[in-house]
Amino acid sequence: MSGRSILILYSLPHPFLPDGSVDVFGPKSVLNRLQAVKESLVSLGYSVKAMEMKEDLSPLVGRILRSGAELIFNLCEEFRGQSRLEMNVAALLELLNIPFSGSSSLVLGLSQDKGKTKSILAHHGVPTPAYAVWPPEEPPSTAHLQFPLIVKPLKEDASLGIDNDALVKDSASLLRQAEKIHRLHHQPALVEEYIEGRELNVSILGNEVPQVLPISEIDFSTLPPHLPRICGYEAKWVETTPEFSHTVPLCPAPLPPKLEKRVREVALRSYRLMDCRDYARVDIRLSPDGIPYVLEINANPDISPDAGMPRSASAAGLAYPQLIGRIAELALSRSQPPRGSAEREPHE
Ligand SMILES: Nc1ncnc2c1ncn2[C@@H]1O[C@H](COP(=O)(O)OP(=O)(O)OP(=O)(O)O)[C@@H](O)[C@H]1O
Ligand SMILES: [Mg+2]
Repeated sequence: MSGRSILILYSLPHPFLPDGSVDVFGPKSVLNRLQAVKESLVSLGYSVKAMEMKEDLSPLVGRILRSGAELIFNLCEEFRGQSRLEMNVAALLELLNIPFSGSSSLVLGLSQDKGKTKSILAHHGVPTPAYAVWPPEEPPSTAHLQFPLIVKPLKEDASLGIDNDALVKDSASLLRQAEKIHRLHHQPALVEEYIEGRELNVSILGNEVPQVLPISEIDFSTLPPHLPRICGYEAKWVETTPEFSHTVPLCPAPLPPKLEKRVREVALRSYRLMDCRDYARVDIRLSPDGIPYVLEINANPDISPDAGMPRSASAAGLAYPQLIGRIAELALSRSQPPRGSAEREPHE
């Protein structure tokens, strides 16, 4: 393994958030993550280079091909600042026939659409909150849902577009939130029944026999009662807010063994149903009657040193560099192209 070459591909988010304010947290987080992944791979003996995935595309493709890397470590969450193009980076690497870490383009695209993901899960009997997709300029189809509801963008992550007003208790606030999402995010709103209960994150590592890492929980117990018990944008990013300081991650989550088993099974089933590869994180709310409702599957989860997946790995005795190394190994095991398959260099 030692000395094998890895090219880390990363992308920077759009400099402005949808509300027009400067994104102060996104770029910093990307660069910290890049540095941590790079140091980890170097410490494991890999020869590592990094490249930002940005315009212009054609010289970039040339540089990727000439890099001679055996593996791309794919940290891209967007292209041209657009998260809907996250899947296209993976699709490009698939066309170039270069092995890369993480899920395929299809899985990245599908899991970014929370509605499509939920319809697959629901079809297979995996519990997920009842929901409706509400596109701009269309009448709501939410009559079958029971308040309280949560309203979020259909295809975003990192809690973009989820603030304290996202939890709605009546039709007027529902309409207001849905319109806000249409206006600012230019996409349908996902309206979901709100699951009052514990919040669990289940990180999974591996392919043939995936390893479910210790479950992490967000502890809301010290959150001031006037604030909704959700992990919205402030809770995730803005360190100076009460939302941030009172949503404390706890790992491993204290769960009775039977309940823990149920949560792990639901998460693993979701991982497999969605064809996740190498690593992913399944976000769950556990209802008071013990049903683990899957909120979403993060097929390209945050692997910054202070993020949920590394926290769970560390609780399993897997230090950060080992986690990153494991992901690289999983991906490298795909690096032998099947005999007779196309070479990397395009030919006439
Ligand atoms: N149906 C729901 N019931 C209860 N809480 C919810 C529900 N949907 C979302 N939330 C809350 O909102 C948070 C963000 O939701 P979600 O995970 O769907 O968004 P996200 O932007 O993809 O987040 P990230 O990618 O950062 O994990 C959840 O962690 C949870 O606290
Ligand atoms: Mg989430």
